Amino acid sequence: MRGLLGELLPAGAPFVWEIGSGHGHFLAAYARAHPDELCVGIDIASERIGRAERKRERGQIRNLHFIRADAEDFLDSTPAGCPFSTIFILFPDPWPKRRHHKNRVVNAPFLTALAAKAQAGAGLFFRTDHEPYFREVRTLLGSHPDWVIPEAQGWPFEEETVFEKRAARHFSLEARRR
Ligand SMILES: C[S@@+](CC[C@H](N)C(=O)[O-])C[C@H]1O[C@@H](n2cnc3c(N)ncnc32)[C@H](O)[C@@H]1O
Repeated sequence: MRGLLGELLPAGAPFVWEIGSGHGHFLAAYARAHPDELCVGIDIASERIGRAERKRERGQIRNLHFIRADAEDFLDSTPAGCPFSTIFILFPDPWPKRRHHKNRVVNAPFLTALAAKAQAGAGLFFRTDHEPYFREVRTLLGSHPDWVIPEAQGWPFEEETVFEKRAARHFSLEARRR
């Protein structure tokens, strides 16, 4: 992973990271609309990464990469000199049962590790249709020393994802790296 990232990420270049990019709808559209931003989507499901990759190839989107990886492994492997400028977490698996909460991608140690590799002012954009998960993440971010939730909430780019299409409603949260 470290070798691959060393090849893909130019030293010192900030990049946009989507965690759990699924079929790649959101990041492909985002990368197309922001050709000057380097974008990397990761997912643990190889079939989903395969579909996202085909989207990237068909659209010849040169500032976009999809990699099969686990979020924690990826975070651990990114070179310190390549900070995140923006992070998207869209409809992550909610793991609704209490005994499964430990499997959720967003937790306090993860936010600390993420902040260590995010540039000052980096945006973290979280969206879910699972209200308890939303409330938990808002509490975690609101009490975290490295992140601040701006009063005026924004969302930088809209492109409906597969899970967004299925959701009756959703909840969005913007946080900024201090
Ligand atoms: C509910 S789906 C949402 C997919 C997409 N974001 C959407 O909105 O359509 C959650 C995605 O996160 C991926 N995922 C789950 N745990 C992950 C992890 N630890 N690291 C990377 N991806 C993960 C799953 O494989 C799945 O594609």
